[in-house]
Amino acid sequence: MDLSRVWHLAAVFCLTYILIKVIQLHRGRQMLLKALNSFPGPAPHWLYGNLRELSPISAIYRKVERWSCLYPFAYPLWFGRFTACLIITHPDYAKPVLAGMEPKDSYGYRNIIPWIGKGLLVLHGPKWAQHRKLLTPGFHFSVLKSYVPLIVDSVKVMLNKWEELIMQEKSVELSEHVSLMTLDSIMKCAFSHNSNCQIYKENSYVQAVFELCFLLYARMFYIVGQSDFLYWFSPHGFRFRKACQVAHLHTEKIIKERKKALKVEDELQKIEKKRYLDFLDILLCSKDENGIGLSDEEVRAEVDTFMFEGHDTTASGISWLLYCLAQNPEHQQRCREEIKTILGDRDTIEWDDLNKMTYCTLCIKETLRLYPAVPGVSRELSKPVTFFDGKTLSEGSWAVISIHLIHKNPSIWDNPEVFDPLRFSPENMSNRHSHAFLPFSAGPRNCIGQQFAMNEMKVALAMTLLRFELSLDLSKPQPVPIPQIVLRSHTGIHLCLKKLEFSAA
Ligand code: HEM
Ligand SMILES: *[C@@H]1O[C@H](CO)[C@@H](O)[C@H](O)[C@H]1NC(C)=O
Repeated sequence: MDLSRVWHLAAVFCLTYILIKVIQLHRGRQMLLKALNSFPGPAPHWLYGNLRELSPISAIYRKVERWSCLYPFAYPLWFGRFTACLIITHPDYAKPVLAGMEPKDSYGYRNIIPWIGKGLLVLHGPKWAQHRKLLTPGFHFSVLKSYVPLIVDSVKVMLNKWEELIMQEKSVELSEHVSLMTLDSIMKCAFSHNSNCQIYKENSYVQAVFELCFLLYARMFYIVGQSDFLYWFSPHGFRFRKACQVAHLHTEKIIKERKKALKVEDELQKIEKKRYLDFLDILLCSKDENGIGLSDEEVRAEVDTFMFEGHDTTASGISWLLYCLAQNPEHQQRCREEIKTILGDRDTIEWDDLNKMTYCTLCIKETLRLYPAVPGVSRELSKPVTFFDGKTLSEGSWAVISIHLIHKNPSIWDNPEVFDPLRFSPENMSNRHSHAFLPFSAGPRNCIGQQFAMNEMKVALAMTLLRFELSLDLSKPQPVPIPQIVLRSHTGIHLCLKKLEFSAA
């Protein structure tokens, strides 16, 4: 065969491939247009869709909140010309989507798999059910109870650090301190691993998580990010692989150490004597009816999933909680008084105290309403969903439930911008929509760590308010929420801390 023929064939092949791709994209777009036809929304640019209106990142909430006033139930958002989702901003629309067992979508969640693997968060179908059943005992209240003193210790380390810091500096930027504290906690609680990461400032994992969340978020708005192939070669793709490596090194080390320890026989006996199996024991020792345990890859995915979900979310929750109370001194004082009444002359909080923190709990809920640590979840519909108003979203559609926008929907919440914990008093909650408040999502795929998270937030709040008075640092830019998988602040969260004289150190 002569060379020109080879070239000719190659050219024909390439052109055919491109033609098929173009036809596929075009047909995909026609189907999307049809599926989203009955849902009005902001007009998309012919090439960029709504992407350009969503930048800069710090302005994103101003924009989407305005749209959600114009379109009070849901509106389509176009990511370029060929990808679009339906943003859901009303509880009546969220309910039927969360009630089912729809799989996680293949846009956002798919990109996270190289990092956290196919763990509980992204699994689907029988595998998900098997893992959920397996891991649920790890969150039994008797297990959670034994975690409280471990969390208390982690919080104390953080507060001691702050006490030193405020001797030199006017205010503290909370994010990294709180993340290291919650990482320290989850490693002690779920993995029985004492890393002392807060003291050794062992923050490479925490920084990798910040980087990964930033990159995953940026990828959605990045044309190159729409293709795995192009993304791999891009600078962001390179940074993503590097950060994944750092995160995996961290989790692999913990699994390896435990496996080694489990091989030693008397370690096994020690576990039997422990009051509970920790999360890692459950993963490594479990067997199904046929005596088959989890594969190495499955174990790694669950460890990566819980390491991330178990610290970054609560770090966001605690940081915004302290911010809200700094902003609202009268509520801060009421929480402090409640805690002092509960503790009496004790200086440490215990399991039995947590249930008594009623006013603090209202403040935690109101913080999670205004600043939901997980600002949205999404699904890819495996069958059409018909909403209460008769409109139908067809099979295969990408539905994003904006927890943030539901929590700020003015048709559900009076003065949604105002911090008002009494919204959550039992009297006021009784006539509220079951899906108006969704920080931990709802339905079968709700948060498995909800109780753990509430406990950790209560402990952190109580210990912090006993030791410090919180106020805003008005010389620094005020926090700007941005949704990077978890809710972060674009400008950090800077608080002034004043040591309270009468507190026990
Ligand atoms: C304030 C803290 C937290 C918030 C706001 C939160 C919120 C959520 C939300 C909204 C979901 C649903 C995700 C989706 O549909 O894609 C979820 C799922 C999940 N959360 Fe949390 N979470 C928090 C803390 C935790 C903690 C501490 C852990 C672990 C110790 C955890 C582990 C998980 C897991 C494994 C899932 C997936 C569950 C499943 O699909 O079966 N979360 N969380
Ligand atoms: C119900 O909420 C309103 C406003 O949010 C508040 O003023 C009122 O005190 C609350 N009622 C109760 C019983 O807490």
